[in-house]
Amino acid sequence: MRVGVLYSRIRKDEKLLLNELRERDHEVEKIDVRKERFGLESTTAAVDDLDIVVDRCLSTSRSLYATRFIDSYGVPVVNSPETGDVCADKAKNSLALAEADVPTPATEVAFTTEAALEAIEEFGYPCVLKPVTGSWGRLMAKIDSRNAAEAILEHKETLGHYEHKVFYVQEFVDKPGRDIRVLAVDGEPIAAMTRSSDHWLTNAAKGGETASFDLDERAIELVEKASDAVGGGMLGVDLMEVGGEDSGEYTVHEVNHTVEFKALDSATEVDVPAKVVDWLEAKAAALADGAVSEVDA
Ligand SMILES: Nc1ncnc2c1ncn2[C@@H]1O[C@H](COP(=O)(O)OP(=O)(O)O)[C@@H](O)[C@H]1O
Ligand SMILES: [Mg+2]
Repeated sequence: MRVGVLYSRIRKDEKLLLNELRERDHEVEKIDVRKERFGLESTTAAVDDLDIVVDRCLSTSRSLYATRFIDSYGVPVVNSPETGDVCADKAKNSLALAEADVPTPATEVAFTTEAALEAIEEFGYPCVLKPVTGSWGRLMAKIDSRNAAEAILEHKETLGHYEHKVFYVQEFVDKPGRDIRVLAVDGEPIAAMTRSSDHWLTNAAKGGETASFDLDERAIELVEKASDAVGGGMLGVDLMEVGGEDSGEYTVHEVNHTVEFKALDSATEVDVPAKVVDWLEAKAAALADGAVSEVDA
């Protein structure tokens, strides 16, 4: 197949993916989003004959716009701009999960510091304040007291960008020092790991320690539902255990649409890039079949 890889920087994750694609003799078109222009009818990027494009952009805005344009030229792209749109925004993400009856931490959005302080006081302390966009635990606050709440809200209001004018307040989940990351393709788990840390942010990016994790039936069910809730694709589903380690009870705090897999690849026995390319091949084949039957009809 002919695969386009949309990127702005080749990290270890992209190297793993590119190596796997080349080992299987797929033709790869690397598309550096920084160099291309996207018009209403066509683009400088060589997307015309591609079977599928994989979005690996780091920046959310580039990812959302570039996939939207590529989709408009009729070129299949994963993840879809619709999935990206939901996943890129924590408020939309939470709403989608709740609408699909996936357990997710209680959350409120407010638009002024006064209303946000009310939400915080109602949740009680500690609670969590997050920017609606962003990742790697950046600018997330665990708020322990009213004094801290007032200070953080004032800082956000005075120094924050537009994105910080939306206050996303969430209950603090008393997780057992770890959370769970599952890489799933259209709802089917490929690999899962725990991320443990003494810090309340347990993300790998914040220095959390990773270990392979065996999903139980409930976790598998929730991953599938969470994936469907955001429109499917190659996703990183994040869960926390409620009621202690191995309690088998979970809450899904977010679904990520541009998912890193190098940590999962080294933490587990799974050959993650191989599984990802298996999925891309199946996806491209299904799309080609679909196109043929459309022509037939
Ligand atoms: N409501 C919460 N209660 C307790 N810990 C949380 C909560 N939300 C997030 N965390 C911790 O913070 C980390 C980052 O949060 P997340 O919402 O996944 O943001 P990011 O987009 O930065 O990954 C999670 O991996 C988890 O360890
Ligand atoms: Mg996360």
